[in-house]
Amino acid sequence: MELIKEIDILDNHRAETCEVRITQNNALSFQRKLYIESYGCQMNFSDSEIVASIMAEHGFGTTSNFEEADLIFLNTCSIREKAEQTVRNRLKHFQAVKRKRPEVMIGILGCMAERLKNQLLEEEKIVDIVAGPDAYRDLPKLVALADEGSKAVNVFLSREETYADISPIRLNSNGVTAFVSIMRGCDNMCSFCVVPFTRGRERSRDPESIVKECKELFEQGYREVTLLGQNVDSYKWSPNPELKGKAQIERAGEKNVVTFAELLKRVAQVHPQLRIRFSTSHPKDMTDEVLYTMREYDNICKYIHLPVQSGSNRILELMNRGYTREWYMERIDAIRRILGEDCGISSDMIAGFCSETEEDHQQTLSLMEYAQFDFSYMFFYSERPGTPAAKRLKDDVPLETKKRRLQEIITLQNELSLKRNRRDIGKVHEVLIEGFSKRSNDYLQGRNSANKVVVFPKENAKKGDYVRVFVHDCTAATLLGKIVKD
Ligand code: SAH
Ligand code: SF4
Ligand code: F3S
Repeated sequence: MELIKEIDILDNHRAETCEVRITQNNALSFQRKLYIESYGCQMNFSDSEIVASIMAEHGFGTTSNFEEADLIFLNTCSIREKAEQTVRNRLKHFQAVKRKRPEVMIGILGCMAERLKNQLLEEEKIVDIVAGPDAYRDLPKLVALADEGSKAVNVFLSREETYADISPIRLNSNGVTAFVSIMRGCDNMCSFCVVPFTRGRERSRDPESIVKECKELFEQGYREVTLLGQNVDSYKWSPNPELKGKAQIERAGEKNVVTFAELLKRVAQVHPQLRIRFSTSHPKDMTDEVLYTMREYDNICKYIHLPVQSGSNRILELMNRGYTREWYMERIDAIRRILGEDCGISSDMIAGFCSETEEDHQQTLSLMEYAQFDFSYMFFYSERPGTPAAKRLKDDVPLETKKRRLQEIITLQNELSLKRNRRDIGKVHEVLIEGFSKRSNDYLQGRNSANKVVVFPKENAKKGDYVRVFVHDCTAATLLGKIVKD
């Protein structure tokens, strides 16, 4: 996360450049080898772990070396044009691999697979398998088809699939922090966004399976889980009528429905030493009940990612975000009132959406000042085919203007990040250690509750420990400190 954050603030290429992670080698006892590269959001990384688990059941071990792989999967993202371009370039690279070893199979998974479907096979001749986000259970069958020489496609979107029963194989794990998917899909129709088309309808995962996964992670030594969903605030689970009988639910009524606040409580109760984070909160749905639950449990981290996208009411309306600038400001006030000034808040911003004027842009900047975001993911608008905005609005802000406005947003965010980090100097923070710092093995790094990266000399501490760190200095991206003994 912190790497993503740093790069993001600097050059704003989260999905496209820095989230390329490659799987570890656990292939020794398997017959065939699978190499997976993941792009896009945390959901996709989490899905790759489900894919690795499904494929392991069918004799595929993962490898971090594509030269020795029998099967290469790219788990792709469609959120901006550039994200898709990155994957297309990567495929060119794999062309050489396929030329040398024609038996290697190449599969495109994830959002790009869902968006482009069969078209991908026509455009990218080296691709053998195309599988959308709800089709991963079918992958072994698709691979078998490809083994027989047919191209294989499954882009069926499900209303039920949550992969609840699959134990993900943790890839590139630090052994301390893990992602846990709590829901899939999205029912919001933000006009700029491709996700509802690539991920399908929103559905929540059985809370018991979520709590079970978190317990197992804790027992394996993990100390932090991040609950993932496109809009976690609309998490809602009720017992499946087919399993439990309709009459039973009617009797139980709303009492039996698990909301996000209730889910948070259940996960927080797994163990006081297990930290809980979640992403993403939606400003229109984030309730005070969730904020009070966060306050009640020390192990729920005091950090909220609350993407605003724009500070202008006119643009928010065109984006179909379902809230106004004033509503968003009130939500910020509620966070500060209930969780205090130190609660970390981050955001996403889109510069240069359709018809955005200079005045709209100024409104975004002034809202950022109001909210005092700790950091943000910042993008310029990229029209996605098939979205409501592509159908109904004109992508009429010139690229130069988009880029200039984005740069102004980034510059302001860097100032705000530095200012917010300076407030942390002179205070002691509880930090969960995630590993060595990027620059030196004499230093460790972890994050405080507010999700800020803290770097400090290692002394006798180690990965997975909670330590108290006195912060004496900072940059816009990092807090620097020293362990204090109680
Ligand atoms: N579910 C999350 C966002 C998921 S996509 C939410 O509702 O906030 C992550 C971010 O990508 C979005 O918040 C938005 O800032 C950005 N994004 C999405 N579509 C985009 C587009 N067409 N052009 C530029 N940025 C986009
Ligand atoms: Fe996209 Fe909006 Fe859903 Fe987020 S809430 S995934 S931006 S449609
Ligand atoms: Fe990208 Fe799909 Fe995530 S479009 S951001 S990988 S949901």
